[in-house]
Parts: sequence; structure tokens; C-alpha cells
Amino acid sequence: MARLFPKWTDTAFKVVLGGLGAGAVGGLTLVMLYMRTPYGEAAEYPIDQPVQFDHRHHVEDDQIDCRYCHSGAERSSYAGIPATEVCMGCHNQVWNQSPMLEPVRRSYFSGEALEWNRVHHVPDFVYFNHSIHVNKGVGCVSCHGRVDQMALDYQVAPLTMGWCLDCHRNPEPNLRPQSQITSMTWTAEQDPKGHEQAVTEYNVRHLTNCTTCHR
Ligand code: HEC
Ligand code: HEC
Ligand code: HEC
Ligand code: HEC
Ligand code: HEC
Repeated sequence: MARLFPKWTDTAFKVVLGGLGAGAVGGLTLVMLYMRTPYGEAAEYPIDQPVQFDHRHHVEDDQIDCRYCHSGAERSSYAGIPATEVCMGCHNQVWNQSPMLEPVRRSYFSGEALEWNRVHHVPDFVYFNHSIHVNKGVGCVSCHGRVDQMALDYQVAPLTMGWCLDCHRNPEPNLRPQSQITSMTWTAEQDPKGHEQAVTEYNVRHLTNCTTCHR
């Protein structure tokens, strides 16, 4: 029987198939590489928010303590995002005509919460708890970076298992006095005595068992 297609089409077919295969593998490799880049891990890239809330104004200019808005950080697993009422505690007086605050006023009067987009997120199979870290002397800046210099908050640490374990194997260099927990500028070099006291006082465990974080 005569060939339906000339012989070269076989080769073309193989090339196309090969290309598809390589494409699939290549695509997968690209996805895997992407997942490992800061972009895949959402680090360093700000996320859009319903209000242009700027930590620089509130933390640096006005010296409002982190815990005024994220009070959960020292008491519970979640640091939490402040309710509209917290904003309005100041903004029914300060800048109460600002168009930038229009969504906040709308939320306040309608009772509908603002929908902030999450920046940090560990997978559900990972157990994380703010209060233990904060109460054992790990400052916000160790995990969140210089929030006081961020226009829109972004993720600084990779939040990978390796990152958690790096500190858990040797947490001592990261410990600070309670009075400096929310300070963005405190360093152990500046205050070696405070640092040493913290190390002795907290006497932290080196928690590397799988069940510490996977329960
Ligand atoms: C006046 C209130 C206020 C103060 C003070 C404040 N924050 Fe926030 N913070 C917010 C709001 C509102 C958001 C949600 C919008 C955003 O992500 O930028 C937020 C978001 C964040 C996030 C990202 C949350 C997520 O979705 O993962 C981090 C981390 C954070 N704040 C840390 C801090 C630290 C550290 C301080 C102190 C240096 C601080 N904040 C002080 C109001 C505040
Ligand atoms: C303790 C008082 C206080 C609280 C609480 C507070 N703010 Fe502010 N906010 C200020 C002050 C003061 C300014 C002016 C800052 C400046 O320009 O240095 C400001 C400025 C702003 C601006 C900029 C307004 C403009 O027109 O430039 C926005 C937006 C804003 N705040 C949003 C929020 C949101 C959202 C919350 C709640 C999560 C909040 N603020 C909570 C005191 C506060
Ligand atoms: C040991 C690291 C670490 C420290 C210290 C830490 N955080 Fe976080 N923070 C995280 C991680 C991890 C998440 C994501 C948690 C999740 O997905 O459940 C997070 C999430 C947040 C969020 C988002 C809302 C929430 O509760 O999930 C805010 C706001 C926040 N942190 C503020 C703070 C503040 C303020 C401090 C200091 C008082 C602080 N954090 C100290 C690691 C840390
Ligand atoms: C910068 C240091 C540091 C980083 C980063 C860090 N931790 Fe910790 N973690 C500590 C210290 C210190 C303790 C307290 C140890 C103790 O209780 O003696 C702790 C305690 C814990 C506990 C408490 C276990 C219990 O007994 O309840 C959990 C869970 C935990 N960490 C999870 C995590 C996870 C998940 C991450 C990463 C997303 C992380 N940690 C990142 C320093 C760190
Ligand atoms: C200090 C906290 C911590 C400890 C201890 C820990 N893990 Fe994890 N683990 C994490 C975090 C955080 C992730 C999520 C990583 C991510 O999303 O990139 C994770 C992810 C994983 C995953 C999912 C695959 C992956 O790589 O993302 C597996 C499997 C895992 N851990 C197994 C273990 C085993 C086995 C142990 C004990 C030898 C262990 N973990 C100890 C924090 C921890």
C-alpha cells in the first residue's frame, strides 16, 4: 500500500512529539524554578490592598507600637489585622476628610469589614504560633524585616522549612529583651548586655522535632 504521507512526515511527527515532551519537562522545570524564586514565594513583592495603608506613616512618623494594631502577636497564634474601629479611633479626628480613607469610613458606617489581602502565609499542615516567639524574645523584625520602611507590606523571609529550622537549631543570636520586641533598630551588637541577659533568661529549647511544626 502506498504511504499516505511522505516519509519526512514521520520525522516531523517525531520532532513535534519530542518537542512536546521536552516542552512538558521544560515547562515543569520552569514552574519548579519559579516556585523557588522570591516571586514564587511572594517575597519582596507588595500586594494590592483595599486601602493604601502605609506602615511608614504609622510606625516611623507616629511611633505607634506594632501591638496597638497587632495585639494578638503576644497573646495568640495570630498577630491579626486591626478592625476598622481601630483605624477610626484616630481617623474620625485625624485626616477625617482624606479621600484615601474613604474605604475605611465606608466600612465603619456600613459595618462591612475591609478585605485585606494576606501577605504572609504558611501552608495548613504547618503549625505556627506568634505568642511563643514573641514571649521567648524573637522580635518582629527578625521575621518581617523593616516594616517601618515599607510603603506596602511585603514578605522578606522565605518562610520555608529550612528557614524555620536555621533559627530553631541556633536561636540564641536572635533573642532580645522584651522591651525591644517591636523595635525595628535594636541590635545585639549595640546592646550586648541586654542580649546576654535575654539568652540566660529565656533559656530557649532547640526545637527541631518534626512534631514541633507538623502536628
Ligand atoms: C496603625 C495600625 C498598624 C500598626 C501600628 C502596625 N501595623 Fe502592621 N498592618 C496593619 C494593617 C492595616 C495591615 C494590613 C495591610 C498590609 O498588609 O499592609 C498590616 C499588615 C502587616 C503585616 C502583613 C500581614 C500579612 O498579611 O501577612 C505585617 C508583617 C505587619 N503588619 C507587621 C507590623 C509590624 C512589625 C509593626 C510594628 C513595627 C506594625 N505592623 C505596625 C496595621 C498596622
Ligand atoms: C493612633 C492613631 C492612628 C491609627 C490607629 C491609625 N492611623 Fe492612619 N494615620 C494617622 C496619622 C497621624 C496619619 C498622618 C500621618 C502622616 O502623614 O505622618 C495617618 C495617615 C493615614 C493615611 C494617609 C492619609 C492621607 O490622606 O495621606 C491612611 C490611608 C491611613 N492613615 C490609614 C489608616 C488605617 C487603614 C488604619 C487602621 C488599620 C489607621 N490608619 C490607623 C494615625 C492613625
Ligand atoms: C518567628 C517569626 C515571626 C515573628 C517573630 C513574628 N512573626 Fe508575624 N508572621 C510570621 C509568620 C510565619 C506568619 C504567617 C502565619 C500564617 O500563615 O499563619 C506571620 C504573620 C503575621 C501577620 C499576618 C496576620 C497573622 O496573624 O497571620 C501579622 C500582622 C504579623 N505576622 C505581625 C507580626 C508582629 C507585629 C510581630 C512582632 C510583635 C510578629 N509578627 C512577629 C512570622 C513571625
Ligand atoms: C528567628 C528565630 C526563629 C524563627 C525564624 C522561627 N522560630 Fe519557631 N521558635 C523560635 C524560638 C526561640 C522558640 C521558643 C523555643 C522555646 O520554647 O524554648 C520557637 C518555638 C516555636 C514553636 C513552639 C512549639 C511549642 O512548644 O509550642 C513552634 C510551633 C515554632 N517555633 C514554629 C516555627 C515555624 C513553623 C517557623 C517558620 C515558619 C519558625 N518557628 C521560625 C525561634 C524561631
Ligand atoms: C521549625 C518548624 C519545622 C520543623 C521542625 C519541621 N518542619 Fe517540615 N515544614 C515546615 C514549613 C514551614 C514547611 C512549609 C515549607 C514551604 O511552604 O515552603 C514544611 C514543609 C514540610 C514538608 C512538605 C514538603 C516541602 O518540602 O515543602 C514535609 C514533607 C515536611 N515539612 C516534613 C518534615 C519532617 C519529616 C520534619 C522532621 C525531620 C520536619 N518537616 C520538621 C516547618 C517545619
